[in-house]
Amino acid sequence: MFENLEAIAPDPILGVLAAFLADDNPQKIDLGVGVYRDEAGDTPILECVRKAERVLLDTQTTKTYLGPAGVAGFNSAMSERLFGADSEALNSGRVRTIQTPGGTGALRLAADLIRAARPDSTVWASDPTWANHLALFPAAGLNMQAYPYFDAARSRLRFDDMLELLSQREPGDTVLFHACCHNPCGVSPSPEQWVQVADICADRGVLPLVDIAYMGFERGIEDDTLIIRLLAERCPEMIVASSCSKNFAMYRERVGAVSILSQSAAKTEDVVSVLNSLSRKNYSMPPAHGPAVIDIILHSDELSSLWEQEVAGMRERINGLRSDLAQRTRDAGLQRDFSFLEEQTGMFSFLGLSGEQVDRLADEFSIYTVRSSRINLASFNASNLDYFVDALGQVL
Ligand SMILES: Cc1ncc(COP(=O)(O)O)c(C=O)c1O
Repeated sequence: MFENLEAIAPDPILGVLAAFLADDNPQKIDLGVGVYRDEAGDTPILECVRKAERVLLDTQTTKTYLGPAGVAGFNSAMSERLFGADSEALNSGRVRTIQTPGGTGALRLAADLIRAARPDSTVWASDPTWANHLALFPAAGLNMQAYPYFDAARSRLRFDDMLELLSQREPGDTVLFHACCHNPCGVSPSPEQWVQVADICADRGVLPLVDIAYMGFERGIEDDTLIIRLLAERCPEMIVASSCSKNFAMYRERVGAVSILSQSAAKTEDVVSVLNSLSRKNYSMPPAHGPAVIDIILHSDELSSLWEQEVAGMRERINGLRSDLAQRTRDAGLQRDFSFLEEQTGMFSFLGLSGEQVDRLADEFSIYTVRSSRINLASFNASNLDYFVDALGQVL
């Protein structure tokens, strides 16, 4: 049977990583990687996670099966963080969260849920969007279309075009949003613009699906949930796919969650039963370690305030690097204006280079990224910024 299978080309990011690892230039920089790095270039375990892991080790009494919805305390804490502990949606019983294997698992469960509810629903995603969105929804049998989002020539949001396209959507359409720190372009609507987006979603009766993979990396943990809260106040139904990979730095533990809002507490129970059955069919139940750790953190005043500080530290480092880089390109007198880097947020931005310029960065300077010129700002540090700006000036 396997004779029917053709090899699939590996993700370009893996090729970038392989080339970086094989390069022995001590000044090499990997700007392609999708994880947070500290000043030393490491992706450390958060202190709050270390402390909670010790508590878990001492208090865990069993490793028996969990059930398809995962760790209950993690699920309720995530509902509160995403929708607000005092929100009407939560307190009326219309919101429920179930744990999934990472944010990707949450998106896949969300896709399966949409397919079960409305097989003909089209998922509208921003142009561009995270590459895995483009693979994942069709893999679940859903159609996808793009709405205008990023103006690559000006490195800005195409807000009017986006709004116009959203205002033509119909009930039965699903519209996917990045709640904060858009991957790959780093551009987000302002709070005022999010209000307009939420109003249009309510007006058009679409199903909003919010992907929140960087909560806390844009403006703050609570602030970054703004679009979720605006939609929950206006729309009868929505889905949120969240990831704890970045903001708890628990990448390999695969912690995520899918949350649903429906018209009534009774309907929410029905939808949760469908989610549980989808979980059971896909992977039976999600892994326990990561969410059990986060359950401990979010139910401890001391550990949750430590987590908030550590997230603020990561956010401030990235924003600081954005400003430093933009400033150094100005100081170096580069012809091109990179001040957009300061206005964008999160780990990713496009540099706006051609594929040939990206190749030159790799070949001549050992600076690696994908050919779209998306870079991870967290790969910079005080000792490689000048080297990078010099190389950038030369390829420009
Ligand atoms: C926009 C977006 N959504 C979802 C995810 C999924 O994250 P996870 O690693 O938790 O599956 C990512 C990870 O890079 C992402 O960038």
